[in-house]
Amino acid sequence: MASTEQAVRTGQSTLQELAKRHLWMHFTRMSAYDEVEVPIIVRGDGCYVWDEHGNRYLDALSALFCVNIGHGRADVAQAGADQAKELGFYTNWSYAHPPAIELAARIASLAPGDLNRVFFTSGGSEAVESAYKLARQYHKLTGNPNKTKLIAREIAYHGTSLGALSATGITSLRTPFEPLTPGAHHVPNTNTYRLQPGTTPEYFAESIAEKIEFEGPETVAAVILEPVQNAGGCFTPPDGYFQRVREICDEYDVLLISDEVICAWGRLGEWFGAIKYDYLPDLITTAKGLTSAYAPMGAVIASDRVAAPFMTGHNSFTHGFTFAGHPICSAVALANLDVIEREGVIDNVRANEATFRAMLDSLRDLPIVGDVRGAGFFQAIELVKDQETQETFNDEESETLLRGFLSGELYRRGLICRADDRGDPVIQLSPPLIAGPEQFAEIEEILRGVLTEAGERMHVQASTGERYKRRSSSGE
Ligand SMILES: Cc1ncc(COP(=O)(O)O)c(C=O)c1O
Repeated sequence: MASTEQAVRTGQSTLQELAKRHLWMHFTRMSAYDEVEVPIIVRGDGCYVWDEHGNRYLDALSALFCVNIGHGRADVAQAGADQAKELGFYTNWSYAHPPAIELAARIASLAPGDLNRVFFTSGGSEAVESAYKLARQYHKLTGNPNKTKLIAREIAYHGTSLGALSATGITSLRTPFEPLTPGAHHVPNTNTYRLQPGTTPEYFAESIAEKIEFEGPETVAAVILEPVQNAGGCFTPPDGYFQRVREICDEYDVLLISDEVICAWGRLGEWFGAIKYDYLPDLITTAKGLTSAYAPMGAVIASDRVAAPFMTGHNSFTHGFTFAGHPICSAVALANLDVIEREGVIDNVRANEATFRAMLDSLRDLPIVGDVRGAGFFQAIELVKDQETQETFNDEESETLLRGFLSGELYRRGLICRADDRGDPVIQLSPPLIAGPEQFAEIEEILRGVLTEAGERMHVQASTGERYKRRSSSGE
């Protein structure tokens, strides 16, 4: 123990050794760091972070879609410290405390429609897990005990706890842990870039109705969808998609869960994705930007209609987490929401999203860029072998492209973003919501250089046709 403490104090190279020996990083091939350094981030300020060697990086991923207000906000941290002095912890199990009450009321005032009841969690998976359980218990309380199934979309990521994982539609994340919680079923996502021949965008919503019919409407509890689907690369909804999904859910008495773990708190230029796309869910799940990750916190926001049966007689939502609604996290969340409001953070997204998008679209002249899509400060570039035919990379090529080159090279050149192949290979960009033209120019310079080299390494030829210049899978 003494030697570990001493080692931590003695400095940077020792931190490397300790990380390699003791830290188990999430979703990480640990052996990838046998020969190379673990990236150790030690400081952040605004849109930038620094590693242990003093190298600066543009954090165009907002530390995994979290740090909406940017890094280094001592005032937000101070709100947590002040709260710790007053009341370090009390639980929400049968007790309340001022920060959780104030935060619940504040969230209700920002959420759409009658989503007025807030159940706190410690993060996104817990929020999804809670919403799934809430939907099941809601139907039991309202006389439909067989409504237990959940419908989600292919390639969508909804978290890792067993219930949430059953909603997650990524085969490679599911199979190591099967059998999962039974009852989750998947429908196509809104990938309009790869629309199957003979189908139209209207099909995406209708596939949900078909799945409900197939499973039996009396067995389906809820549908869970992100406003813009992250995994697969920022799939936006076609026009009218959510309005039709809402109709379908109403027709079959199925709850609509809007999973806004990423899409809320300004990411898409509105407080919530449901506001941007103008639909009213029954439940919203959220986390990440709620505190801008200055403290871990998530929430389920329920409509009055869904909450009502839990509020009478002996009924209760028989579910909870010790730390949920933690007073320090709640105080931090309130301070974070103050910053978003006071400093016009969402206005900044609205003012700059077109410039951000235009910069990314300008990369379409690179033969490896197949599609650019997304909304607000949540955008993806899909990488292809051929712009004309939209041919994608096979698994081996994708491995060479993403893990063998792009991830490391982007980081080496000072850009943190996501090179992901849970669907077809994409680069995802999701900068802090305070970013502007200066950061976009930096992103462009690095991406242009790295993607040009990637294309050459993968022998991607310039397309002979002109079709790619006209094509865009989403108008956003
Ligand atoms: C849409 C969505 N749902 C759920 C989760 C799980 O959240 P967490 O990692 O906080 O458990 C994530 C995480 O990225 C997410 O993007």
